[in-house]
Amino acid sequence: REELYIQYHGLFLPKETHSVNSLKFAQEFSFENDVIAVTYPKSGTVWMQEILPLILNDGDLTQIQTIPNWDRTPWLEETRLAVVVDQLKSPRALVTHFPYHFMPASFHQSKAKAIYVMRNPKDVIVSSYYFHQMAGFLEDPGTFDEFLDKFLDGNLVFGKWTDHVKSWKHNNLGDRIMFITYEEMKEDLPAALRRISSFLGKNLSDETIHTIAEHCSFNAMKDNPMSNFSLVPKIYMDSDKSPFFRKGKYFTSSFTFV
Ligand code: PPS
Repeated sequence: REELYIQYHGLFLPKETHSVNSLKFAQEFSFENDVIAVTYPKSGTVWMQEILPLILNDGDLTQIQTIPNWDRTPWLEETRLAVVVDQLKSPRALVTHFPYHFMPASFHQSKAKAIYVMRNPKDVIVSSYYFHQMAGFLEDPGTFDEFLDKFLDGNLVFGKWTDHVKSWKHNNLGDRIMFITYEEMKEDLPAALRRISSFLGKNLSDETIHTIAEHCSFNAMKDNPMSNFSLVPKIYMDSDKSPFFRKGKYFTSSFTFV
């Protein structure tokens, strides 16, 4: 475990994508009028990495067709942010797996907006279990029962699911935050895109919403080399063990944010 993960204020994070420097960079990051999608891992992060640039650019496909997701909508806490930060266009779109209290001071002082995406934990566990099998930078998950215990104990990267959700639910952001579920996006993507657009102050035509929905579908993203991680060497992500775009389904539709 020590070989794979670094410890950070009680959380452990994969060394492959996080470092002492990247975490320092995140804490010193200067938020402006940006937007950040917040997720516990396996809850819809990569989906938001597709959705946000499309909404912010009125459905223009250039970014999703030319820039890999980790550079186009970087993770606040990961090493790539420092590499690409100067190339990001305003309003910048980011993602993070940080619990609320890990957000830098500048985030609280800024007008930046946050979109918290929650997914039914039953599906998060299954998705995460398969991801731990395919990702060379994560611990072997063991049996499903063993993995379930780790999940319930919060003994996984980015900590406990309930702590994550609770931390963001009890925020001081007022109208700077919106909540959405993976299930809501899956059930009616155009409606979810309209809700996200209006939160971001974008009034998009039905035609643009339709174009965005088409390009953010599970199948379109699975086929997009800038989004499906096919650019990542097999030792880090082995799609023969389990594809990143595995099923893209949900256990039950009756899952809303209360
Ligand atoms: S990560 O590793 O934390 O960034 O993973 P994350 O992107 O949060 O979650 C991966 C799961 O999201 C599914 N996914 C989608 N579902 C439906 N539609 C679209 N467009 C979509 N994009 C990603 C992906 O398939 C993973 O879920 P599972 O259940 O494993 O298929």
